[in-house]
Amino acid sequence: MSCFFCQQLLPCGKVVPNRLVKVAMYEHLASIRGGPPNRYHYALYSTWSEHDWGMIVTGNVIVSQDHLTLGRDMVVPRGLDDQTIRPFQKLAESIHGNKANRPLAIMQLSHGGRQSSNFLGGRLPFVPPLAPSALRSGQTLENEGIISNIFHLLLFQKPKAMSLADLDHLVSEFVRGAVLASQSGFDGIQLHAAHGYLLAQFLSPKSNIRTDEYSHDSLLLLNRIVNAIRKAVPASFILGIKFNTGDYSGVEESKAQTTQDERAISHLREIVAWRTIDFIEITGGDYENPNFVFSPGSTQSSRSSRQAFFARFSARFMKELSSMSSPNDRLPLVLLTGGLRTPAHLYNVIASNHAHLLGIGRSSVLCPELPTTLKNNQTTEVDLFNDFTPFKPEPDLSLSFTKRWPWTYIWRFVPRIKLIGAGVGIAWYALIIRQLAEGRIRRNDERDIKKSDEQNVFDLDYSVTGIGAVVKMWVWVNAPEIQKSYIVLLLLSLLLMVLCLAWSVDL
Ligand SMILES: Cc1cc2nc3c(=O)[nH]c(=O)nc-3n(C[C@H](O)[C@H](O)[C@H](O)COP(=O)(O)O)c2cc1C
Repeated sequence: MSCFFCQQLLPCGKVVPNRLVKVAMYEHLASIRGGPPNRYHYALYSTWSEHDWGMIVTGNVIVSQDHLTLGRDMVVPRGLDDQTIRPFQKLAESIHGNKANRPLAIMQLSHGGRQSSNFLGGRLPFVPPLAPSALRSGQTLENEGIISNIFHLLLFQKPKAMSLADLDHLVSEFVRGAVLASQSGFDGIQLHAAHGYLLAQFLSPKSNIRTDEYSHDSLLLLNRIVNAIRKAVPASFILGIKFNTGDYSGVEESKAQTTQDERAISHLREIVAWRTIDFIEITGGDYENPNFVFSPGSTQSSRSSRQAFFARFSARFMKELSSMSSPNDRLPLVLLTGGLRTPAHLYNVIASNHAHLLGIGRSSVLCPELPTTLKNNQTTEVDLFNDFTPFKPEPDLSLSFTKRWPWTYIWRFVPRIKLIGAGVGIAWYALIIRQLAEGRIRRNDERDIKKSDEQNVFDLDYSVTGIGAVVKMWVWVNAPEIQKSYIVLLLLSLLLMVLCLAWSVDL
């Protein structure tokens, strides 16, 4: 068990208490056009905090109010003062909790760029988002079918290519985000330069066809942001990056993939050479090819894979790193995310030296108590190596699509649209996240259960179908903004009743 629970030293001098990292998961809990964290976020993160995670990364906090992802994002406030910082302080406190070995609290900073969608992105409909070049998301998709193209066309606007002034403003927005994190007590930030969001768009030739220095040196923007942030925060503040492997990364190597991987490795070598980054998370995919929530190369969630999604690339990067090290040189830690959902997956990453830190997304939602469970189960290394039992069963979203009429007919067309498939998966997990935040998932230890091995385990409701999850994700009766509007509605109705009464009495 010790292989998961040993401390890891970051270049900035801070220590990660253990290797288990709850990675960024968009919570869908803020107000509808984005806003500060609220009581639901605090409750959710307190749940994770109780369970011995080494590092807890927030879901993406958007640096620009009008470039949201799915609408209910946390957003960096335009002005930083005691009042606007307070909700983020409370969030950092919820993550740190009150245990001795407290997890590191990391705020993920992001900008949707061209993936900030038409109706949910925080702009008026059909107002273009900003991006490196005027290329719409989905434009380069091949063999996806007409329905998919229409869907992408409706959802994503042709963006406006960013001017140099836009880029200067963007750098200041990321710096404001980092200062917010630092002033509210977070241990560090992670820049989201993956999954096709703005910073990743600058790194990829399929979205960046500029002719200025931001294309010739595709890391220039990231480098400017990192340098500006380093100047604005203390030296011990953690700076991480979430980074994509090659866009075609997968289990099978292809020529295109090798070229992409070479490009990604050369980017990573350059980032490491900056000597300012503390950890690099390895992931892959974007909205056109959402293989960060599917096994690469397939449209189904990976149930059979015995390896982490991006392990091959990560192993390669670890070798590159060791060739770059020199005595007294502290290099960034590598965090591998994607498909780690059994003890064997976790064990094999560490035993094979594929990464230093283990990034856990969906399993952290299904099983918030995962580190505590691992700690309490004394298992030999041989047992770990062979244990491919998922921490919790995964939802069978494909079955729930096809079982019911009329979906049987309608959804015959849908599986070809990868984005919808990914969206349904995200909705299902967002719903469980909400149930955790609302305290609606009871733990077995809250009930009268005698068996000690069943204690402290969350009891999930697997009956929700994929479609049900999408509907419930958007129809949220306890949403933070609804309470206020209900009160206004109630007051207006009361006023109307009084007026009617007065009028009828007068008559
Ligand atoms: C509901 C949901 C929300 C996510 N939100 C984010 C996010 O805000 N930022 C991010 O970098 N990745 C996000 N991801 C991707 C995860 O961080 C992770 O890369 C992915 O789920 C693969 O890891 P896993 O197999 O352990 O789930 C999200 C994934 C899901 C399912």
